[in-house]
Amino acid sequence: MDASDFYTGIVAELYKPLKTHSQAWEPYASFIAQSGQPALELGCGDGDPILDLRRNGIDVDGVDSSADMLARCAERAAQERLNVPLHHQRMEELNLPRRYASIFLAGPTFTLLPDDQTAVRALQGIRKHLTDDGSALVPLFIPSPTPQDQIGKIKEAMTEDGTALRVSVISEDRDEDARTQRTVLRYEKHFDGENIVEERPWTLHWQTQEGFRELVEDTGLTVSAINGVQGGAAAPDASEFAFLLRPGH
Ligand SMILES: C[S@@+](CC[C@H](N)C(=O)[O-])C[C@H]1O[C@@H](n2cnc3c(N)ncnc32)[C@H](O)[C@@H]1O
Repeated sequence: MDASDFYTGIVAELYKPLKTHSQAWEPYASFIAQSGQPALELGCGDGDPILDLRRNGIDVDGVDSSADMLARCAERAAQERLNVPLHHQRMEELNLPRRYASIFLAGPTFTLLPDDQTAVRALQGIRKHLTDDGSALVPLFIPSPTPQDQIGKIKEAMTEDGTALRVSVISEDRDEDARTQRTVLRYEKHFDGENIVEERPWTLHWQTQEGFRELVEDTGLTVSAINGVQGGAAAPDASEFAFLLRPGH
């Protein structure tokens, strides 16, 4: 399975019910307020934070590689009669009719791109779709290995009709040189004697601050800031940081 297809089928179905915290929309509204509209969210998934942003009158389009996640987003939008323009594309093959003053990912979705070549193609696509005075916000993180005592531990949610939804980590391989962590996740759905169990490999490919700066150099973008989670410049050894990018000259 291609990395960009991870959030499909049972994973898309269980994503929202098993999510531990919801994505705050305000930081993205602030970014768009500074950078301008229209805006584009890459990896908008089933709708957080794009639905909040649209509800608050922001002109933002969404892109995602998973038709299943987009269908859930469209369904939530329809329930509220919100008009949310959605595009089924991979961010590394971005081809949209519009250019944007703000392009962003909400949370470290960029880490789902499985290698540096794919990351460069996504950055080139971002450059191509940015207006000349626009900017892009790319949050990144360096994942920690799953602690040994968490392997096999089940996270469960119950739906209103009594269906038990579960996810657990089965195993994990980490390659520090390739900056890649591959976690096998087991998704489960149990209802009235019917049991669905599926294991899926989930790949994270992380970027260091220095390494990402080098990747950006070849894409027609330039780094205007590296922000920490509390605002202000990120500490050089921070495990979470966000790159603010502008078109290069
Ligand atoms: C962790 S989810 C985040 C969804 C949503 N923003 C949220 O916070 O709830 C990551 C999303 O990125 C999408 N995605 C993964 N790889 C992608 C790619 N190469 N291009 C576009 N979208 C991708 C997945 O389909 C998924 O919907």
